[in-house]
Amino acid sequence: AGRETAQKPLAGRHVLVTSGPTHEPIDPVRYLANRSSGRQGHAVAAAAVEAGARVTLVSGPVAIPDPPGVTVVRVESAREMLAAVEAALPADLAIFAAAVGDWRPAEMRPGKIKKDGSLPAPLQLVENPDILATIAGRSTGRPPLVVGFAAETDAVLDNARKKIARKGCDLIVANDVSAEGGVMGGTENSVHLVSRDGGVETWPKLGKEEVGRRLVARFADLLAQRSS
Ligand code: CTP
Ligand code: CA
Repeated sequence: AGRETAQKPLAGRHVLVTSGPTHEPIDPVRYLANRSSGRQGHAVAAAAVEAGARVTLVSGPVAIPDPPGVTVVRVESAREMLAAVEAALPADLAIFAAAVGDWRPAEMRPGKIKKDGSLPAPLQLVENPDILATIAGRSTGRPPLVVGFAAETDAVLDNARKKIARKGCDLIVANDVSAEGGVMGGTENSVHLVSRDGGVETWPKLGKEEVGRRLVARFADLLAQRSS
């Protein structure tokens, strides 16, 4: 068994993954959310376990099961997700696959807003912390390899290149989520790997499990290069 462990590409590594949407409460019964099944992030976490890593998965509310062998921390809001991510560090590899709400209601109303015949007051929104940018920008304790995801409906590669520079991550996994592709909530994904130097690798459409395995194999190679 020892021999087998030693051969796994992520043996001895701690991998942190975010997955799923966030829910930003409006009142006790309502929230703002992103569309995300968590399937791709969870598949990456499962593949990292197969590759021998210790894996912490910080997950927003999802309807899919916890991947076996993973430590799952469940959160709802973006701010809870950031706190859980910081508590889970240090990590050798951090993969931010969650669809984090960009904004949250400025205040959560303590009681249910009632439908009383008039429209409610317009929602005031404030910006959420950017979890990926916060972790990638750390001067101490930055994971050696930080990977972001980008879900785009237009100008996929252009936007991914801008994001990599803006957020300070090492790699972006970009996918086209325009309605025709059926990626959102579906079981398949077609991704582009965009690196810091602007290089792009486009993969064929594959099952999300297979995309997860291939991504993890690639991250393990990059990590091995960096630490050698
Ligand atoms: N992300 C994050 N925290 C946020 C927003 C995004 O960690 N508050 C992460 C996502 O998990 C993803 C990456 O940043 O890995 C890109 O998210 P995306 O929504 O595509 O980028 P934004 O910068 O929010 O830009 P926009 O939504 O306008 O495209
Ligand atoms: Ca966003």
